[in-house]
Amino acid sequence: MASAPFDWIDEQASLRAQAGLVRTLRPRPADSGGLLDLASNDYLGLARHPEITGGAAAAARRWGGGATGSRLVTGSTELHAELERELAEFCGFEAALVLSSGYAANLAAVTALAPHGSLIVSDAGNHASLIDGCRLARGTTQVVPHADPEAVRKTLDSHAGPAVVVSDTVFSVDGDAASLIELSSACGEFGAGLIVDDAHGLGVLGDGGRGAPQAAGLAGTAHTVATVTLSKSFGSQGGAVLGPAKVIDHLINAARTFIFDTGLAPAAAGAALAALRLLVREPERAARARAVAAELHERLTAEGLSAVRPDAAVVSVRAPSPEAAVRWAADCRGAGLAVGCFRPPSVPDGISRLRLTARADLTGAQIADAVRVISRTAPR
Ligand SMILES: Cc1ncc(COP(=O)(O)O)c(C=O)c1O
Repeated sequence: MASAPFDWIDEQASLRAQAGLVRTLRPRPADSGGLLDLASNDYLGLARHPEITGGAAAAARRWGGGATGSRLVTGSTELHAELERELAEFCGFEAALVLSSGYAANLAAVTALAPHGSLIVSDAGNHASLIDGCRLARGTTQVVPHADPEAVRKTLDSHAGPAVVVSDTVFSVDGDAASLIELSSACGEFGAGLIVDDAHGLGVLGDGGRGAPQAAGLAGTAHTVATVTLSKSFGSQGGAVLGPAKVIDHLINAARTFIFDTGLAPAAAGAALAALRLLVREPERAARARAVAAELHERLTAEGLSAVRPDAAVVSVRAPSPEAAVRWAADCRGAGLAVGCFRPPSVPDGISRLRLTARADLTGAQIADAVRVISRTAPR
């Protein structure tokens, strides 16, 4: 007898349950629900800032609730052009293209810049969206060990045609930064392009939050392309690719997640533009997010916990097992603290962690409270 369709789902669900890896959605109240939030990626505390929500509302009133179609079909608004111009200028690149998410931006950059016959060298710790970009691209991907520029160099040396190196700037699991200068020099030596995902660097690293490529002196160079998300430090939604004008023109013609996707919603573009302008006026927010992360790390380590020294605003604390990590995060929540919980398959090395995000708007008392709760609930 033929089995029913999707029977394999039950099998997968039971394996997942046995491994303690079931994911469920939790309702989220409109306010903080009384929780101190160290789980979101709202690094600069802007998602609910009145200038950002006001920017979203004004843009929706003027341009509508949605972009109504691909920008190639229904036209490109002044709002999108303004955001692209100001974002490129802020980060130090010649041009920018905004897309509906950071995920779409990564798919766009990698697929459009790695045609058939090209080599893609990808760090083993890269974000899922870069990995999916590699899977969809026509070029051949070689995955190299995490944070190993020498392996990148050797891989580039083994290939004759066009090549790109693809890396997160700040890795989302442990919050460690890539050696962009070494990656760039390997690219320079072999004539390769460098595509870096600055999702966790924009707004946090570089002068006043101009991002990791600017901090490394790579912004605006002929071989560097950066992707960013507008959904973390900008408190909005959407993504962008930044690079030389000829690369951006090529994406408009070749990137399927730009061509066949509805343009970024006006409200998201308006919120992102408001966040960008606020950051230009208040550049100290970037340094404050980094200082909060450093303080969290120092205090957690002093409590005997195994926390990774943060290079940006992500602080990762190791847990002994996936089950312990889930229980730990739930106990924190029960004590009024929201923290992220990363476990397989989201962690390439199989180590489960609590993931804390530093926010520029956290007070000293809130940092102390958070450390107290995490330490008190830690699995011993
Ligand atoms: C490193 C990295 N790149 C890309 C993305 C995707 O960005 P978005 O949420 O805007 O799609 C994320 C997270 O969401 C991320 O952490």
